[in-house]
Amino acid sequence: MPPPPAVLTAAATRLRRTLLEWYDRAKRTLPWRATPGVAADPWAVLVSEIMLQQTTVATVQARFDPFLARFPTPAAMAEAALDDVLHAWQGLGYYRRARGLHACARTIVHGHAGQVPDESEALAKLPGIGPYTAAAVAAIAFGQQVVPVDGNVARVLARLIAHDRPLSATKAELWPYAAALAGGDRPGDLAQALMELGALVCTPRQPACGICPWAFACRARAEGRATALPVKVAKRSRPERRAVAMLIRDDRGRLCLRRRPEDGLLGGLIELPAVDPGELPPGDWQALPGTVRHVFTHFSLETTVVTGRPVEALGDAFFHPADRLHELALPTLTRKLLRHAGVAA
Ligand code: ADE
Repeated sequence: MPPPPAVLTAAATRLRRTLLEWYDRAKRTLPWRATPGVAADPWAVLVSEIMLQQTTVATVQARFDPFLARFPTPAAMAEAALDDVLHAWQGLGYYRRARGLHACARTIVHGHAGQVPDESEALAKLPGIGPYTAAAVAAIAFGQQVVPVDGNVARVLARLIAHDRPLSATKAELWPYAAALAGGDRPGDLAQALMELGALVCTPRQPACGICPWAFACRARAEGRATALPVKVAKRSRPERRAVAMLIRDDRGRLCLRRRPEDGLLGGLIELPAVDPGELPPGDWQALPGTVRHVFTHFSLETTVVTGRPVEALGDAFFHPADRLHELALPTLTRKLLRHAGVAA
């Protein structure tokens, strides 16, 4: 790995100062950010960083406070059943993170006396915590001089140094550059300022170089390549899949549901029974007009909803009162399907 360029090390103090001046003016007020002068709650920081890894700021903003009110400490989450955590995670997607967080809370309670470890190596050993989250929590909650590299930060750094290979394969090479920037007396703000710069100014498609506090140092800008970097690799198109979901009610009006297998997509969540087109079991099915589209990471799904009953009861299903769906951990797609069928969910 090449050492960080001397120019970056030499400029680190000025880069930190200009970035923090910009951050103090431009930062968004977000529910997980501590009020200036108040120490950040490590558990709140950890939860927010896990949520923010794969969910947009807008979605996390709406969900963070209620989630934290439900699980205000690692102990509160460790005592809860996994189903309760999955239930509270609804709508945030990538439910594996909720399982990881639950396991993490239990490890914090049983292995660390209920306190979030204050140092990035110990943090990285917790279940569900990768190097990014460990560094983010160490910096933001505990003021350690580390700079976490997430997607936004990687883009900022790639432009700053005109790194011209695809980040998918070379992101790890940016960590030494991030480390060269670390320092000063506001490590948590520095980490968040970098993320904020990537989110608000150094954006993927149309970076606002005219207002960037780092325009003076940016090699991509000097070379007229800010928009072209980081190098993009042609995206494979998402395959389109189709499914048929069955809305089945029993004589008491209860809805037929099933639990997804623990491993795999939406593991352990509750859904309407569904099959590939052409695999519908014999029954008196009526298709509802229209379809429901939902985009997952690796494919798009177009689902038709049919109502009716199968001739033979479905094996792995159960019936649940339609007015008590709020008790269940339903993925967003299932809620969309139910709404499409006129069932409040
Ligand atoms: N993305 C990841 N962590 C973040 C944070 N602390 N603030 C804003 N965006 C983020």
